[in-house]
Amino acid sequence: MEKNFKRTLVTTALPYANGPVHIGHLAGVYVPADIYTRYLRLKGEEVLMIGGSDEHGVPITIKARKEGVTPQDIVDRYHKIIKDSFEEFGISFDIYSRTSSKIHHQMASDFFRKLYDKGEFVEKVSQQYYDEEAKQFLADRYITGTCPHCHNERAYGDQCEACGTSLNATDLINPKSAISGSQPVLRETKHWYLPLDKWEPYLREWILEGHKEWRPNVYGQCKSWIDMGLQPRAVSRDLDWGVPVPVEGADGKVLYVWFDAPIGYISNTKELLPDTWEKWWKDPETKMIHFIGKDNIVFHCIVFPAMLKAEGSYNLPENVPANEFLNLEGDKISTSRNWAVWLHEYLRDFPGKQDILRYVLTANAPETKDNDFTWRDFQARNNNELVAILGNFINRSVVLTHKYFEGKVPAAGTLTDYDRETLAEVAKVKEAVESLLDNYRFRDAQKEAMNLARIGNKYLADTEPWKLAKTDMERVATILNIALQISANLAIVFEPFLPFSATKLRQILNMSECNWEHLGNTDILAVGTQLAPAELLFEKIEDAAIEAQLQKLEDTKKANQLAEHKANPIRANIEFDDFTKLDIRVGKVLECTKVPKADKLLQFRIDDGLGGRTIVSGIAKHYAPEDLVGKNVCFIANLAPRKLRGIESEGMILSAEDADGRLVVITPADEVKPGSEVK
Ligand code: 2FM
Ligand code: ZN
Repeated sequence: MEKNFKRTLVTTALPYANGPVHIGHLAGVYVPADIYTRYLRLKGEEVLMIGGSDEHGVPITIKARKEGVTPQDIVDRYHKIIKDSFEEFGISFDIYSRTSSKIHHQMASDFFRKLYDKGEFVEKVSQQYYDEEAKQFLADRYITGTCPHCHNERAYGDQCEACGTSLNATDLINPKSAISGSQPVLRETKHWYLPLDKWEPYLREWILEGHKEWRPNVYGQCKSWIDMGLQPRAVSRDLDWGVPVPVEGADGKVLYVWFDAPIGYISNTKELLPDTWEKWWKDPETKMIHFIGKDNIVFHCIVFPAMLKAEGSYNLPENVPANEFLNLEGDKISTSRNWAVWLHEYLRDFPGKQDILRYVLTANAPETKDNDFTWRDFQARNNNELVAILGNFINRSVVLTHKYFEGKVPAAGTLTDYDRETLAEVAKVKEAVESLLDNYRFRDAQKEAMNLARIGNKYLADTEPWKLAKTDMERVATILNIALQISANLAIVFEPFLPFSATKLRQILNMSECNWEHLGNTDILAVGTQLAPAELLFEKIEDAAIEAQLQKLEDTKKANQLAEHKANPIRANIEFDDFTKLDIRVGKVLECTKVPKADKLLQFRIDDGLGGRTIVSGIAKHYAPEDLVGKNVCFIANLAPRKLRGIESEGMILSAEDADGRLVVITPADEVKPGSEVK
């Protein structure tokens, strides 16, 4: 049942303050959240948009150590860069704060303490690696060593990327600290765990029964987590950067970054509204919406709600419209490989063109699947849509009004049937855009808005007022009045999407007000209103500007290839006889299932031409089991069998791994019989 809410709290994922922000951040979270918030504000609704930097976590401490500065220096630097970028792109936060603030430390600390006092945590002692040189415990990712399964010497404490097996740091042979290079020692340590298993029945009912309207990607991820069975999660870490655990004897321990970060939404609301923040979090008439990327779904739909429930007095989110990922020119955006369009660089290369990027990112928003940003598409959308449709229509309407009526809005005379049909089309836009925005379908909503410009463009092209100027000025006046009213509608409907251009357009049209409720009206501009001189809203982007961006990416690619080759050089030559020891065969996947309680393993039944065999492979993060059934794969047929999670694996499926650790299964280019040898 539709609930009635009085106000909306929009939260946006807090980006880590260990690097600048790029188009992926903007497309995934901040542009959609901004469109939604601006839309609600225009409708006169009570709404807050909360943002801030996530300033804790291990990677920030590692970066600080590498640079020989303090973690605070790192977050001060990037918090400013990120905040400035958002401001320049018109992301209209009511507050953009940070988790290193005093008020946040206090809020997160009190929150933990309340749960602690209520007995909502379980305490557990475990053995963890400690780096005696760096004097700190090591997160699994920061321990490397030899994989006990495949003997790859560069396996991580949480996973061997060569054979895909998920590991515990204590499984590694010859473990080494990635921080100091020294050999870590095992030490006992105590941590606090949030028993997610306790909340499982509640979460199952609340999400799987109560929120079937959530986006399928969000609902599906939640379902799969819940169905796998929720486990207690540690909410503290041994680290000297973060919010100290507010418990006697917890020296050297801080709250886990994913425990304190979402509390940042609360702290930032309190910082903004010290006296009234609670109504935004606790009044059931407040609707809370979390805008996030898909990698944050579990934290916002499972972990944070469990924390809020355990606390007891907070609302849970009403919706979590998480986006999938945006790729760049066909490749995954990657900070470490510098494969990104950084917002501060875009602003330097395309000054004043924020709206173009906003438009393109919304037009390609990864709402239902991963999407691709390409510079050619960026150019085409600007030149063919913003310039040729929206800009062209507005410009013609304003220029003709100056030419024939000294820039004053003329009065409409008698309307023709065609005029009435056009205005009826215009009137439909409001409802269409509203219903899409209310359902977080920003891409289609923007398409609808653009459709209004198409209606206007077609109207001018069909009525050709410039041909009537000598013979029928009354008709010209009517046409231009209608064209200008459509322009005024455009100034309103595009405000959430293209705020800079909408403001400029309102100035040109001399509109003092921008009220969503006026959308669809044909008397927004009073007769006689004096327009400002015509000004181009959008300009063509020339090939040279696009080629420069493509060249920059090409240079990045080359630099990465060189670096990759250095980091992963071709191994020493081997004799032919050594090669022939390997027996590689083609097999057909008959069955493929997830290995229970091993999030990285898939179990295969392969037709190997010899009656079949079982192989376990660490590629569950890269493939859904059903996608592999029926595929031909290549596998090592004479690898000595070994047990993985109690299952005897008779061979190894071959995959290619790119620099991001993405695994792609090797398949023959054509159909071949199972059992065929690969030579
Ligand atoms: O994935 C990230 O970038 C996290 N810093 C998001 C945190 S969202 C929230 F919980 F604060
Ligand atoms: Zn391995």
